Amino acid sequence: MYEFVRGPLALISFAIFFIGIIVRVVWYVKGLDWRLDRVAYLEKADYGIRGALKSIFHWILPLNHTTANHPIFMGATYLFHICLLTAPLLLMAHVMLIEESWGISWPTIPDTIADYMTLAVIAAGGFFFARRLVLPHVKILTTGSDFLILFIALAPFITGFIAYHQLMGYKLWLIVHILAGEIMLIAIPFTKLSHFVLFFCSRAQIGMDYGIKRGGQKGRGVAW
Ligand code: HEM
Ligand code: HEM
Repeated sequence: MYEFVRGPLALISFAIFFIGIIVRVVWYVKGLDWRLDRVAYLEKADYGIRGALKSIFHWILPLNHTTANHPIFMGATYLFHICLLTAPLLLMAHVMLIEESWGISWPTIPDTIADYMTLAVIAAGGFFFARRLVLPHVKILTTGSDFLILFIALAPFITGFIAYHQLMGYKLWLIVHILAGEIMLIAIPFTKLSHFVLFFCSRAQIGMDYGIKRGGQKGRGVAW
């Protein structure tokens, strides 16, 4: 079982993840109606690129009014995302497995730091769960799939923590962990976890539009 989840199934899930996110980006770009805007976009491409970059940085950095107005929620969101992206990528066990399989490797972080980051993801995720259950204005917009997606994102961290600390049957929890990681990778292109790439697509598109249509006409770039 371990050999299967660690070998062919891992390969299939990475393939679905990479091909899936490329397809989502291609669909996004193809789905836009370029016909009306073609001339402006070509003539003012420099405003467009500047607008796209401005919009991405404006919304990814904690410098906008949404962040300032919700410091606790946004603090949890940043902590969650930074640790969620960094810990698995720089975890020694993962980098070693990738080197074994594909012969490529990169620097790692100490296990203790990865462990604290794992706990931070789990704690922030617990906070998001509670927020969706407790705050009336969030609860009313929440559906079962929001909880499911949150669970899919948290499961590799909870199971990775159990396996790493050998809290229960190690071999079993390692297999459960690998399966949880694979489910998360496969879910990214098919669920709203695709915001991983679509966040950048929509910010770039809106930033380009504002940059070209406003900045392009008035001679100044506008961030949105
Ligand atoms: C898809 C194949 C995956 C494999 C083969 C795999 C394998 C492993 C292994 C061997 C460990 C170390 C357990 C130990 O120390 O004995 C581990 C830990 C961990 N994995 Fe994965 N993993 C996979 C996917 C993922 C994914 C997608 C994530 C999250 C996005 C993830 C997050 C973690 C974390 C956070 C830990 C460490 C927990 C801690 O130290 O507290 N893994 N994984
Ligand atoms: C750099 C890439 C990413 C960016 C820019 C990003 C951005 C965001 C933003 C803006 C939100 C909304 C926060 C809000 O509700 O106001 C969010 C929520 C969320 N993101 Fe990401 N994200 C990224 C990658 C990921 C990845 C790789 C995952 C996991 C696979 C993930 C999982 C989540 C989850 C589960 C939520 C919802 C939390 C909740 O239930 O309230 N994100 N993300």
